[in-house]
Amino acid sequence: MKKELQEAREEYTMAHLGLQNAAEHPLDQFKEWFTAYRKVAQRDYNAMVLSTASPGNRPSSRVVLLKGIDKGGFEFFTNYTSAKGRQIDQNPYVALNFYWPELERQVRIEGCAERISAQESEAYFNSRPAGSRIGAIASPQSEVIDREELEKQVEALAQLEESELKRPENWGGYRVMPNLFEFWQGRESRLHDRIQYLPKGEKWIKQRLAP
Ligand SMILES: Cc1cc2nc3c(=O)[nH]c(=O)nc-3n(C[C@H](O)[C@H](O)[C@H](O)COP(=O)(O)O)c2cc1C
Repeated sequence: MKKELQEAREEYTMAHLGLQNAAEHPLDQFKEWFTAYRKVAQRDYNAMVLSTASPGNRPSSRVVLLKGIDKGGFEFFTNYTSAKGRQIDQNPYVALNFYWPELERQVRIEGCAERISAQESEAYFNSRPAGSRIGAIASPQSEVIDREELEKQVEALAQLEESELKRPENWGGYRVMPNLFEFWQGRESRLHDRIQYLPKGEKWIKQRLAP
């Protein structure tokens, strides 16, 4: 196993990213790459790794789905009392990571997570299929549970009228307001392109980082 892993390597040859051709605004660069990835992804093209840190600075990561780019930030939905929600309450600094192997690309984002408004969460919750709404209501995300109990709870909720499936107060969206972007494009012989954006006043500055 170890030998196979040590010998596993890919060559990256598909594209280049330079300071000149990277967009002036990182959100424009993100949207360009995201649109390209959407066309080739097999599934879950909007999946991203969200990393949070506990107040004691212990990091943890999990996948969530990007559900919008709005007001300059990246939105996802979850349970506010889940492990990640509790961590964000105490330490709003988070990181997002998108890995798009079909395009030999990675995008890293760091920023601050803030809750979106209750109205915005409500609007998205109500747009979800009944099954997803039931799941969100029934699941005390990140708690230790008994699967049978969870299924009983789901069965009971399934008897209700759809209009009764209301958003629980502890379920809603976060918006990650970015303060760092890095766009990584794989290149030959590990000489990858890495373009970092940092905010400077109202604008962003672009820099090339060593691979
Ligand atoms: C493809 C995929 C998409 C997911 N999307 C979400 C999501 O949008 N929101 C969410 O709360 N959990 C989502 N999850 C589950 C999380 O990875 C995680 O198990 C859950 O949020 C609990 O994390 P926590 O205990 O760290 O809070 C997804 C998992 C996968 C694999």
